[in-house]
Amino acid sequence: MAKHDLDTNYLDPNYEPVVNQTSNSPFHDVLAARLKRRAVMKGTVGAALASIMGMTLVGCDSDDDDDGTGTAAGVQTELGFKAVPVSSANQVVVPEGYSAKAFLPWGTPITGSYPEFRADASNTGAEQEQQVGMHHDGMHFFPIDQKTGSNSSTEGLLVMNHEYINQGALHPNGPTAAAGNGGVRPEDEVRKEIAAHGVSVVHIKQDSEGTWDVVFGSPFNRRITGGTEMDIRGPVRGNAKLVTKFSPNGTETRGTLNNCSMGPTPWGTYLAAEENWHGYFANSDANQPREQTRHGVNDSSRYDWELADSGADAYVRFDVTPGGGDATSDYRNEANTYGYMVEIDPFTPEAKPQKRTALGRFGHEGVIFAPATEGKPVVCYSGDDARFEYIYKFVSAQPYSAATAGGYLLDEGTLYVAKFNDEGTGEWLPLSLDDADFAAKVTAANGTMVGDINFDGFADQADVLLNTRLAADIAGATPMDRPEWGAVDPNSGEVYFTLTNNSLRTEDQTDAANPQAENRTGHIIRWTEANSDHAATSFDWDIFVFGGEQGTETVVDGEAVVTLDDDNIFNSPDGLWFDYNGRLWIQTDGSDAAPYQNNMMLAANPVTREIKRFFVGPVGCEVTGVVTTPDVKTMFVNIQHPDANWPFGTEGDHPRDATVIVTRNDGGVIGA
Ligand code: FEO
Ligand code: CA
Ligand code: CA
Repeated sequence: MAKHDLDTNYLDPNYEPVVNQTSNSPFHDVLAARLKRRAVMKGTVGAALASIMGMTLVGCDSDDDDDGTGTAAGVQTELGFKAVPVSSANQVVVPEGYSAKAFLPWGTPITGSYPEFRADASNTGAEQEQQVGMHHDGMHFFPIDQKTGSNSSTEGLLVMNHEYINQGALHPNGPTAAAGNGGVRPEDEVRKEIAAHGVSVVHIKQDSEGTWDVVFGSPFNRRITGGTEMDIRGPVRGNAKLVTKFSPNGTETRGTLNNCSMGPTPWGTYLAAEENWHGYFANSDANQPREQTRHGVNDSSRYDWELADSGADAYVRFDVTPGGGDATSDYRNEANTYGYMVEIDPFTPEAKPQKRTALGRFGHEGVIFAPATEGKPVVCYSGDDARFEYIYKFVSAQPYSAATAGGYLLDEGTLYVAKFNDEGTGEWLPLSLDDADFAAKVTAANGTMVGDINFDGFADQADVLLNTRLAADIAGATPMDRPEWGAVDPNSGEVYFTLTNNSLRTEDQTDAANPQAENRTGHIIRWTEANSDHAATSFDWDIFVFGGEQGTETVVDGEAVVTLDDDNIFNSPDGLWFDYNGRLWIQTDGSDAAPYQNNMMLAANPVTREIKRFFVGPVGCEVTGVVTTPDVKTMFVNIQHPDANWPFGTEGDHPRDATVIVTRNDGGVIGA
């Protein structure tokens, strides 16, 4: 098979291979969709091009922002700022009256001996293990005093993912390819690449002038990388298909990779998602197991780490080709230890990260928890970001209790997958052998083909979870247009998900929830659980907004409820977050050609569907990851894979992913 067609900096959409070969949308459903779709997108012919009005200067004074007081009973969701225009400038643009400043760029020393970042990228692998990683993505701010019930907005732990790397920028002269180097890669390059992945925990504090900085020497400052030892938890722990030379009993692994979005838990820990992990492994065997084929593992890996010249076990493990002995003698099962949500307790630096297998194994974009209620199950949602993949929900078996809540709640429960019916209802289909309907379908499918995979049954519930995508195929889930982040409205309880795009969906494959053929601009779907109970097994959904050019309408029951204009055109919604007041923040990772220009972040009022562009990133980036302090007066936004000379103008071939701190010059509430 061919190498992945990858630019070293950008993530090619083809890197998320279409591996769902089932046809879960039968023709009569499609027909019904055409007749009954609730929200439809109208064309954009004749739309005016954006007027690019020059750069909005960072830091202009503004006198028209109010103090954030809402109009509707306690709900503060109106948008009080002036929208910024689209931008193709190589800088961050924020509204009048706001300031933006880069913080924690790739390479910032945060732990150990705090090795200084070298602008020529000559830091070693060991030094990178003590510095902020690359390609910042999902992020959360944990107030330093949250365990005592306080909520500091001036000191906390900022925890963020480093999804992947710009291999060219990471090394002084780019990577040394195995081809042309005797078929091997220099070990320290590989070590550095693994170290630039993972998660950073950074203790940060605001001084009396309002400037944020790293707390030097804090015991909380920590790097978790693609090589950190982790435990496997939940039903898949100890399964024979997780046995490796490193963990002969299948209970441990090393590393977390391609951590995209995340989710803070109700008990104050952080879950990092493993998204496009499949690409890090190589299997040159002609007969690959379904645990790999349903994810797109192929015969070459993204960065050739398995070819490190030292031949050390820490690198060889990325070659998952079976050897001559049994599974304890090689790494044929290493890829089965990836594809999970990984729990990290930022306040317990000595705690090993825990891979929570009950939440399923797939291309986890992130996870979003419903508000926890005493005595009720814990509920969280997770999207599988690839074309034609699914949205999942986990409901814990044990009830939540604030006094005793912990990660164990995520080890036992029911994983469901979403089926969106065309008339605006939906069902959560349990992927559980305890469910009679699912068990019957699994039996019926025994020995048959599911897409291009020869299904040979599920041995037990661990096998179901290990093959979550296949289980969802059989259950009859609705293939979606790349589910990225989810968010739960703190005021209404509605659940929102971005469906970023899917240019491969054909007209025959459209349905009411994914109604656009060749969906290049994406949409945002939302639903209300039956009886407003997040553990319910049915829901009502609608489409919140369609992305697109000026004039794009989102039409509900014949009425245009949103018409995009210069203030809010966008494409490919990806990051999504409700702030603590209930404003919805939408981040994009899409086409940066006209009329959209650079990727951006918009704010939305979920009640009125008013949407305004708040932030535009620098050239070449995606804008991903957003959180604020509890008072919503400091906002952190991540910039991933910027082009040259950002943020400091001197990087040249070594641009630096960074967090951007956004504040209001009058100290007010962001977005109000
Ligand atoms: Fe990592 Fe689906 O974005
Ligand atoms: Ca994303
Ligand atoms: Ca994306």
